[in-house]
This record gives sequence, C-alpha cells and structure tokens, in this order.
Amino acid sequence: MSADPPARAAELRRLIDEANHRYHVLDDPSVDDAVYDAWMRELQALEEADPALRTPDSPTQRVGGAPSGQFAPVRHLVPMLSLANARGPDELRDWHRRARDALAAVGLGEEPFRLVVEPKIDGLAVSLTYEDGVLVRGATRGDGAVGEDVTANLRTVRAIPLRLRADVPAPARVEVRGEVYLPLGAFADFNASRARAGLATFANPRNAAAGSLRQLDPRVTAERPLSIWCYSLGAAEGVAAESQPEVLAWLRAAGFPVHPDIAVVDDVDEAVAACARWEERRAALDFDIDGAVVKIDRRALQAALGAVGRAPRWAVAYKFAPTTATTTLRGIGINVGRTGALVPFAQMDPVEVGGVVVRQATLHNQDDIARKDLRIGDRVVVQRAGDVIPQVVAPLVQERTGEERPFAMPDRCPACATPVVQPPGEVQMRCPNRSCPAQILQTIQHFASRGAMDIEGLGEKTVAKLHDAGLVRDVADIYALHAHEAEIVALEGFKETSTRNLLRAIDASRDRGWPRVIYALGIRHVGEITARAIADVAPSLDALLAASPEELARAEGVGPVVAESIAEHLSSEDNRRALLRLREAGVTTEGEAGQAPGEGPLTGLSVVVTGTVPDLTRDEARRAVVAAGGRATDSVSARTDLVVAGPGAGSKLAKAERLGVPVADAADLAAILDGTVPVPRRAAAETGDAT
Ligand code: IVH
Repeated sequence: MSADPPARAAELRRLIDEANHRYHVLDDPSVDDAVYDAWMRELQALEEADPALRTPDSPTQRVGGAPSGQFAPVRHLVPMLSLANARGPDELRDWHRRARDALAAVGLGEEPFRLVVEPKIDGLAVSLTYEDGVLVRGATRGDGAVGEDVTANLRTVRAIPLRLRADVPAPARVEVRGEVYLPLGAFADFNASRARAGLATFANPRNAAAGSLRQLDPRVTAERPLSIWCYSLGAAEGVAAESQPEVLAWLRAAGFPVHPDIAVVDDVDEAVAACARWEERRAALDFDIDGAVVKIDRRALQAALGAVGRAPRWAVAYKFAPTTATTTLRGIGINVGRTGALVPFAQMDPVEVGGVVVRQATLHNQDDIARKDLRIGDRVVVQRAGDVIPQVVAPLVQERTGEERPFAMPDRCPACATPVVQPPGEVQMRCPNRSCPAQILQTIQHFASRGAMDIEGLGEKTVAKLHDAGLVRDVADIYALHAHEAEIVALEGFKETSTRNLLRAIDASRDRGWPRVIYALGIRHVGEITARAIADVAPSLDALLAASPEELARAEGVGPVVAESIAEHLSSEDNRRALLRLREAGVTTEGEAGQAPGEGPLTGLSVVVTGTVPDLTRDEARRAVVAAGGRATDSVSARTDLVVAGPGAGSKLAKAERLGVPVADAADLAAILDGTVPVPRRAAAETGDAT
C-alpha cells in the first residue's frame, strides 16, 4: 500500500481520467487495458480502505447508487431550445436572408459573420451541469424548460467527464449541451441479441439510446455503449467564448467530445455545400445524423437575434430525407450467385425510404436472418442511405401476432435442384453444380460488366435473352455472336441497329487487357486487384494454364485459398476450353498489370478501398494508393493497415471497425496523399483476430 494514500488516490484518478479521455473522447488510446484495470483496482482498494477518499468524481463512481424509483424533474438554468427546419438549399437561403434582415432591423446589418455547419446528431439531447469543475447533474431535455434527472445514468457514459479537465479554469457553474447516441455497430449487436432473446427490438439507435438513458437501474445503462457529441453551452458563468467556434474549442479543452469535422464558412453558398457533404457522408458515419445544423458564429449576434417561440433565429436544422421506414416482410427469395452462393433476399411491401421505393433488400445469408430473428410476416425496419443497398435492420418483435413463420434455407438449388452444400467453416450455402444455369447466367453477366470486359448493351436482360435462345452458353460464345446476327435481330426487343451496336461493343472489348480478362472470368476470391497481381506472375494464358498453385501464391494477396480457387477453376475442361476459345476469338490474353508501385506516404502499407469515393472512381483511388507506395488489396484482414471508405461501404467497413483497422474517408485520403496529415495508425493495444 502507498505511503501517502490520498496523494496516490489523486494521482490514480488523474491517470485514469486521462486514459479514459484518450480512449473515449480522442479515440486515441494511451494505455493497455491491463494497465487501466490495474489502476482501477488499486484505486478501488485505496477507497475501500479509507472511504473518505471516495470522491463523487472518482472514476470508480461511474456506476454507483441504487436503482431510482423515478426521475426527478430538473429545471434547466437556460432553456434547451429546439430548431426550426430548412428543407433544401432554398429554405436555408431563406433562413439566412431572414437572419440578415433581422440584424439590419436592429442596426447590425453591416456586421460580418460566419456560419458554422455541424452534424445534427440523431440522439437524445442532454444537459450536463458542472459546479466548480465537477459533474453534479445530468438531465434530459424534457419540454425544454424542465427535464428529468438522469445523473446516475449519464455518469456511466465514459465519454462524459466526471470532472472538467485542468486545461480550462473551472467555471463556478456551466451547463454543457450535447446529444447522447448509440453507435450503429453497437445498436445492430444490441438489437440482434434482443431479437434472439425474444425481447422487443428498437426501431432505430435513437430509441435505443433513449431507452437506455431512461433505465431505472444505472447498471443496465452502463452495459450499453452510449456516447455523446457536445455542441453548445447553456448557463456558462465564467466561460469566455465569443463565438460558436470558441464554444467548441472550450468544450474540447474541457474534455468533451466535439465532432472534428465542423466547418466554419464565410457565406450561405458554402454552408449549402457543407450540408451536402454531410448528406453524402451520412451513410459512412458510425452514428445517425438526420441533418446538419447551421449556426451564426458570433454570440453577440446570436443574442441580438433571439428566438421565435422555442427556436432561435440564429440557427437552423438542415434536414435530410429519412433513411428508415417500416414495412412488412412478405417472403424471402433466393438468388444463386456466380460462384453458386445461395443469397437470400427480403421481399417486402413497397415502402419509400430515402426518396426511393424499396421492395427488396439483401439478407446476406441464413446466419444473418437467424441473428436478426427475421420471420416471414414480420413488420420490419428497412434502412437505405445514399447509394447503399437497402438493409433490413430488425423485426419489430413487439408487433408480432403469432402468425409469423420462421424461414429455412432450401436444401436444393432453386435454379437447378441440385442438393446444396455448406462447405465447412463457411456461412454461405452453395449449389455445387458447375452447369447450374443460374451460375452460368451470372458468370456471363459478370464477364460483360463494367469493371470486367465492359460490353455496353450486354446487361442482365440481354444476357438472359441470348442464353434462353441458346446463343450464349459460356463467355466465349459472346465472341461467336457475329455468326448469328440474323437470329439476334429476330429476338424480341432487338432491332438491326441495337444488334449492330451490341456486336460493335463486343468487338471493342477484345483488348481490355489480360488482367481484366482474368477478373472477368469470375473466379471465386479473384477481385480486380488480385487479377492484376495474378497477371504479373502469369503474364499470358499459357503461363496461367501452366502455373502451379505455389507459383500463383507468389502473387500479391494470393494465399492458399485463392490459389486453390484458381486451380479449381482451371481444372475444369469446360473452363479451359472457353479460355482457349477466347484467345482464338482475338481477346487479349497476354500482358502484365502495369502500374509499378510508387514511393510515398503509403509505402509498405496494405490499403483497402471500399464504397464510393467522391470525385474518384474506385479504380482511380486504388491507383493513387499504389502510386503513393501502398498495396491496394481487396479484402480486409488483421494485416490491413488502412481502409478508405466512402458512402456505401458495407461489410468491409464493419470488419475494419471490428478489427481496429484505421478508417479514412476521401478527404482524409487526399490529405494523406498530400502529406498534410500522417497515416492513421492502428491503436497499439489492439491485436485483432484474423477472421
Ligand atoms: S444546437 C439553440 N447543434 O437537434 C440550439 N442541436 O431539433 C439548439 N441537435 O434539441 C441546439 N445536433 O437535440 C444543436 N449540432 C447540434 C445538434 C443539435 C443535434 C439536436 C438537439 C436539438 C435538436 C433540435
């Protein structure tokens, strides 16, 4: 035991608070979990030996107190206002004009001001009162004047400091305002486990956060990984901040999480652009936002503008279209993919989400359905944001009537009736029949698709017609279509011009290059990047046909599984014949991938690009990575150094987050390539699993 327990306890509190701040607020862990736990245990022991050392702001006191019977009312010192809405750029400009006019009316028309654009967090507004630097109360918004005392529950939120950091002089009293939210990953896990347990699920993270904060037992709240973004002050005696950016800077210095990407702009056009950027980024964020908030920066002008009713004139909520809706799950269909994977999809009553009518959503695999406990007939929450494929978030278990039916995967392929198999260790069920018509169709479609041979006019429907007419049975048949021009013209939906255009597009695809041909074959596990790497070690068709799995495994990103998959593809007599026929038809079957790796900030790092990266095609983003010395790879693993994720990033982003791989967006990538910011590194304590 320490020679000076009070001093040691104070030191431990400081160390733990600092570690907590680094982990939960700055997202930049500074110590190992084991060290943190040891400090906590030592502090608990000191406080047990001498209860006088147990201060209310001690980190051991986050989950304290017995369950409360109810939440006492709390009057906010300064009311918590709400915001008027602006739907679209025109309404935002109207708001700006009204604010200007109102300032002119009080003789401040010439005062210049800037605008601050913040994310509008879709969570639960709370007010945190600190007296002499110590958290004394936390309350919900309530009706804006009086909220509920949820102090015990808010104390369990690790991102909320129990004491203000010493970087700011502690004001006598300050009310900090922010939005408590549940991160999306945590929400999905939480709902899935509730559905499995037969408990009511939450329609969205906001409701889950609200439910968590209004728990009568703080130990229950402590189990939910709530977090907070802070954005304003209520009463603030002794805080010298003259503008919203200064308020945010004070909040950061005092230890509160403030979103790092808040824009300060000069005029309303730039504010419109900043709002559009938030809408674009929305799907890639780890928390829900339902808009952006635009605020006039200077507090003196804010005061001069005042409020109309409950809404200030100096701020406005720029609202986005909602991205979730509820509908009924009518059935679960099955698609058979190119590689034989049976992929279930939801068939739902049509519903508008994010401005688009949605009828179908992918369900990935049977584990996904079981994890979410989806049953046919369920009311379900559907989500769609940006370009993202619609997702079924959760069933509304509380709306079940008892008529709902659980789903079972078929035991035969719906396209060819071959009994399905589930290879050991894989989640996906597969049709093992290589001649399965569904797989052949998908393979041909993939071959003709954009990133592959890019044959314009040879989309899904055309491929199906040509296949049904017996004109295209494998990919090589595409190049024999010239001999069947008259038959094609006679098919429904074809005319002479469209047929000629199609044949011309087929001709033009012959020299896409050998790496694209390898990719176009649709071999399982062989994406565009892997195909390029294979072309480097097997720079011609003959070299590929002669290559042993060991030789293929020398290609970047090709491990035994991928090499085996290639070998299996090439072991099929039909596949080999198709390849030789492609060569005979004049398709390029030679040549290396080309782009030599450069030197730069990404040298030696393995980078995955996923989702759509604004202003760059994915291929351009990958080229930029390679030019900067990086290795662009297809799949995320524990060895991945960085994931660049744009809107629409799905499972790769989720996996990166699970493995603790740093994630950057397009703006980060640009800054990294410019050398203006360092490459983010994975947290030191993280080990990651290789799944
Ligand atoms: S400012 C007068 N900033 O949106 C200032 N509010 O619809 C009012 N909200 O009650 C709040 N993100 O709960 C502000 N960056 C942000 C916000 C934000 C979310 C919530 C807040 C407010 C509601 C109004």
